Amino acid sequence: MDDFLKKLKKNSHDIDEFLNSYLPSGDTLNKKLIESIRYSAISGGKKIRAFLVIETGKFLSSIYNKKLSKQKFNELRAAASAIEAIHCYSLIHDDLPAMDNSSLRRGKPSNHVKFGDYTAILAGDALLSWAFEIIGDVNFIEDARQRSDIGFVIAKSIGANGMVGGQQADMDFSYQNTLSLSEIEWIQRHKTGALITTCCQVACILLDASEEDKKSLMDYANNIGLAFQIADDLLDINGHEKLIGKPVKQDDKNKTPNFVTILGKEEASKRALKTSKEAIAIITKYHPNSENLVSLAKYTVNRDN
Ligand code: IPE
Ligand code: IPE
Ligand code: MG
Ligand code: MG
Ligand code: MG
Repeated sequence: MDDFLKKLKKNSHDIDEFLNSYLPSGDTLNKKLIESIRYSAISGGKKIRAFLVIETGKFLSSIYNKKLSKQKFNELRAAASAIEAIHCYSLIHDDLPAMDNSSLRRGKPSNHVKFGDYTAILAGDALLSWAFEIIGDVNFIEDARQRSDIGFVIAKSIGANGMVGGQQADMDFSYQNTLSLSEIEWIQRHKTGALITTCCQVACILLDASEEDKKSLMDYANNIGLAFQIADDLLDINGHEKLIGKPVKQDDKNKTPNFVTILGKEEASKRALKTSKEAIAIITKYHPNSENLVSLAKYTVNRDN
């Protein structure tokens, strides 16, 4: 297996370990909710958002010539797991009949197919709340200012003017093929890009990055986010259900406009590649240990799932 894929898999395992240890568990009256949260959040997904948090943290400590302490790694891992929980909530809701109405996720029946609609809605709500419980907990992130700053930037990036706003527009403008490229870009940057950019921002907060480094890294992540969603749109038509773990041709079924429907496959691929190269150019301006962030930018547009 490619070295990068091994690292991604190891990261996924680390995050699963955290989720398994700290997500709610128990056999109380809400046990169906707990089962459904664990069903969707653990052992699935590429966990690229978590990878981005942790690798940005490692990258920053290497450019500041600091050894990443175990404590700092654990803080990065906690924040990364919280972000994955939020991402998972967004997928559970995205698959609901009222939204994309998709029955397969991460190679398994979607949460609402397995547990029913109200449980899926509540599982999403609970994952979102859990994420902020972790971010606010002194046992996971020691510094009070960092806890507060991380809570603020995450909340802002996933709200009405972030991820959720992007999801609203994505739904509102389905069946409309009159959207301009810049409107499509607005949707993608909000529904997917905002949370991905925040992954770098969170690592910058934990590592006390300079404003200049924060700006560059967020710029890098911005490009990753856009390239990632264009690649997702391409996989929706070119991918294989067995590999992507979700049904293909969902966007066509739902008449969701995206880069591929506006530009066509070829131009959309070029745009994704160009955006990934922009991310690589930003990161390679720094020299030390940027390999994993460069590999992530390449993987973003060159993946089969
Ligand atoms: C899918 O995200 C939805 C998008 C925002 C494109 P991922 O492709 O990261 O999904 P998982 O977490 O690996 O399942
Ligand atoms: C989902 O985008 C974005 C969010 C959940 C925020 P998509 O609808 O394209 O994701 P998939 O293709 O179902 O994974
Ligand atoms: Mg969707
Ligand atoms: Mg979807
Ligand atoms: Mg998609």
